[in-house]
Amino acid sequence: MDIFPIILGQRRTDISILTVLQHERRKMKIEGKVAVVTGAAGGIGRALVRRLVREGAKGVVLADRATNDLTEAAAATGGLAIACDVTRESDVRALIAATEDAFGQVDIFISNAGAYVPGDEDAPDDLWTGLWNLHLMAHVYAARDLMPKMAARGSGAFIVTSSAAGFLSHISSAPYAVTKNAAIAFAEYLAIEHGERNVQVSVLCPQRVRTPMTENLSGSASLADGMIEPEELATSVVEALDSGQFLILPHPTVLEYLQRKTADYDRWLRGMRKLRTKFRKS
Ligand SMILES: NC(=O)c1ccc[n+]([C@@H]2O[C@H](COP(=O)([O-])OP(=O)(O)OC[C@H]3O[C@@H](n4cnc5c(N)ncnc54)[C@H](O)[C@@H]3O)[C@@H](O)[C@H]2O)c1
Repeated sequence: MDIFPIILGQRRTDISILTVLQHERRKMKIEGKVAVVTGAAGGIGRALVRRLVREGAKGVVLADRATNDLTEAAAATGGLAIACDVTRESDVRALIAATEDAFGQVDIFISNAGAYVPGDEDAPDDLWTGLWNLHLMAHVYAARDLMPKMAARGSGAFIVTSSAAGFLSHISSAPYAVTKNAAIAFAEYLAIEHGERNVQVSVLCPQRVRTPMTENLSGSASLADGMIEPEELATSVVEALDSGQFLILPHPTVLEYLQRKTADYDRWLRGMRKLRTKFRKS
């Protein structure tokens, strides 16, 4: 059925009521829910786990391939550790199955594992493929398993961690920018496809966050504005779960940059070239 004539036929007040109803329907309360966070051994993932536990989640599963750090993070946060390489579909399916065995179902899945590697178009194929698998296929594997279940229940939240670089590119890594862009496109698709079944899909696009990933970065990273703590980012994620919003921007300026980019692409490219030149000189 084509819904556009119906929506277009609504009076303004009716549309507001409809929007409010949909908004209400999609809220995800954390208390009593079961959450899985990948890339949870450190950084953003670990802070998200800590916050989910604090918000009263019934069960929180930490998944990572860094098993030593994972065990330590689980002990520190009170979650359940499950070793998982998210680039392997069998591992992702086993992670979800183990969570369901332990807690019944997955209500909130935060597909967060990632890695920054510099490189341009000449970066070796295995680097490109590795980041493609990590920043796109890992989300695809989780969605293949979870989306039908969440859609059938008519509830669930699926959060993809991308990056501001997914919208605004990156001056030192083509594979990172491109694969994070793909993650946004995939999240958009999921939100369109499953949103009406009350599955809440969001994409998290931070700029700099103080984590092991940014610890040893210099150059481009030192030019980026607004380093925040992972705990601040966790607050943005909790707010998004509460409001049902798609776009999670812990750095609100990212929206401004995105608007400027789409308003005048060539101007934006000139600005990015200047930034690149500045970085290469520094
Ligand atoms: N820190 C930032 O400034 C920043 C900015 C934008 C986006 N991000 C994104 O946020 C996410 C978390 O980053 P972070 O800063 O906490 O980095 P981090 O390096 O501290 O944590 C990333 C975690 O992902 C895990 N991981 C990597 N490959 C994996 C795999 N194949 N399977 C399972 N786990 C794997 C690592 O072991 C690590 O624990 C990443 O997707 C990153 O791209 C970070």
